[in-house]
Amino acid sequence: MSYSQKLLACASALRAVLPDSERQGRVLAAIEKTEHDTRLDPPLQGIQRAVHALPLSEEDRDVLHGHWLGHPLHPALVQIPLGTWFSAAVLDLIPGKRRHYAPAMLIATGLVAAVPAAVTGWVDWAELRKPQMRVGLVHALANSTAIFLYASSLGARVRGRSVRGRALGYAGLAAVSIGGALGGHLAYRQAAAVNHAEDIPVRTEPGWHALGAVTDLPVGKAVRRTVGETPVLVVRASGNAVHVLADRCSHMAGPLSQGEIVDGCVRCPWHGSVFRLSDGWNVSGPATSPQPVFETRHVDGQVEARLA
Ligand code: FES
Repeated sequence: MSYSQKLLACASALRAVLPDSERQGRVLAAIEKTEHDTRLDPPLQGIQRAVHALPLSEEDRDVLHGHWLGHPLHPALVQIPLGTWFSAAVLDLIPGKRRHYAPAMLIATGLVAAVPAAVTGWVDWAELRKPQMRVGLVHALANSTAIFLYASSLGARVRGRSVRGRALGYAGLAAVSIGGALGGHLAYRQAAAVNHAEDIPVRTEPGWHALGAVTDLPVGKAVRRTVGETPVLVVRASGNAVHVLADRCSHMAGPLSQGEIVDGCVRCPWHGSVFRLSDGWNVSGPATSPQPVFETRHVDGQVEARLA
């Protein structure tokens, strides 16, 4: 069989296992229904309170959010259990007794790696909006089921019950695949934990834009203005220096102009991310991306701003 024939065979095999467009629509509709399913709400608040009550400092939480990495840590950590468990499934397809140790080792590695992946996921989850939290809860349930099935698979393998171990492993793979699909929906459809200020340089017209008279700006207080079409937070510091940041918080698009101004920083009113007014640096999370900053100048008593 030539290379192109193999490719075509793979493509038709993939088409056979993927749902047709009608079933795809039903799957998507079911996930979207989850976003609006208020029956999931009673446990949400309790779990959120429990996550907030974990004995973690603000610095610990920043590490878990991925502040040091510049993007969320959770999606990076989940690669380890996903990779080891998928590799175990491939090895399980190969006949021969000596290989049974390798899948067991991979499953055990995945179980250990699932712990930090789950912790980072819960810490991120507790700072989401409700529709995202609902999907996140089902995502976590699917992954918890996978962890249970893989732990049972490992136990069966250790007791020498390899057929049962393989069957449980494949059931675990199915559960973690559902969890992964929901995680994809959370990130790519619901924009959870992505940088919500990423498009500011594209959407903001270049050049200087008038923001009004400097004397109209209250000292030390946040006000909302626009630079072209882009909403911005404007703070007049003492000495007439004026700081301008994009108003939509990079974490989840919260209105920074309604935030608190403390020590040269603004604290987002939604989840408490802190951004330095002088350069937009995200001093603390849950935001993992800095805030776009504008440079300012004074012309005849008027303040003008442009994207730095
Ligand atoms: S929107 Fe979440 S910290 Fe600003």
